[in-house]
Amino acid sequence: RRIALIGAPIEVGTSEPGALMGPAALRTAGLVRTLSDLGHAIVDHGDVVPDGPADGRGLAAVAAWTRALSRAVEAALGAGSVPLAAGGDHSLSLGSVDGAMRHCAREGRPLFVLWLDAHADFNTPETSPSGNVHGMPLAALCGEPGFPDLFAEPVPAPLPPANVHLFGLRSIDAGERALVTARRVGVTDMRTIDEFGVVAPLRRVLDRVARDGAHLHVSLDIDFLDPSIAPGVGTTVPGGATFREAHLIMEMLHDSGLVRSLDVVELNPFLDVRGRSARVLVELVASLFGRRILDRASPVIEAV
Ligand code: ARG
Ligand code: MN
Ligand code: MN
Ligand code: MN
Repeated sequence: RRIALIGAPIEVGTSEPGALMGPAALRTAGLVRTLSDLGHAIVDHGDVVPDGPADGRGLAAVAAWTRALSRAVEAALGAGSVPLAAGGDHSLSLGSVDGAMRHCAREGRPLFVLWLDAHADFNTPETSPSGNVHGMPLAALCGEPGFPDLFAEPVPAPLPPANVHLFGLRSIDAGERALVTARRVGVTDMRTIDEFGVVAPLRRVLDRVARDGAHLHVSLDIDFLDPSIAPGVGTTVPGGATFREAHLIMEMLHDSGLVRSLDVVELNPFLDVRGRSARVLVELVASLFGRRILDRASPVIEAV
């Protein structure tokens, strides 16, 4: 496949500095070579440049990044590539998902967003206890009020909350919890994963995406993973996905053939331990893009 790597060194959405080094750390950990060794044509487009003043931590700074990243992602999709937005804090998904929405609107197909994250990121400026925009992107994308002038005009229709699935959820604020419930956002929380594993819940999501003929956008927040394997993030939450669960999810995503765009977010190299988290992310992305242990499915899997 053709892959467009787009660096998004954004940290205006968080109060913890360091995420702007994320794209550099992912490159240092061998992201480009790993994907080209798998046989993909990957082009590194460098880091996106904000469209307007982007200092301070308010919505105006986020908007400058959002416009620029949206254009880069929409252009990559239009050129037939899979955009890989490397962050940067999770506010970058405002841009990547907006770009995917614009592409999908043009193609007349639905967009579905799989959000692999410890958090729901469904706060509004009103419900947010921290004021950090990285805890708000899904609410803005789904059309909640309180986000003026975030996206470039004309704005496509907001993302239907029913086309969002939170996977790995284990930390949610009271106000966003009420919103996630009221808007009927899809959720597989850690409790569900503990009971049923990752396979059955993920398969339901993928079946639905395939049935709808939707574009699947995957947004991977590194805090989806357990902090023991990925300490390099400002918002660690204990009890996350294991190394094996995470790879299995990536392998299932690859086998589905449905993933059209991807974010890798919240890596904070300043908090990392000797590049460990960056390397884990590169390995996971490799699994999502087709790395496998054998060059064939095992006979047991084929029989299922
Ligand atoms: N819910 C918390 C907040 O709104 C944490 C959000 C963490 N988000 C993230 N993308 N890591 O501040
Ligand atoms: Mn397309
Ligand atoms: Mn997040
Ligand atoms: Mn998170």
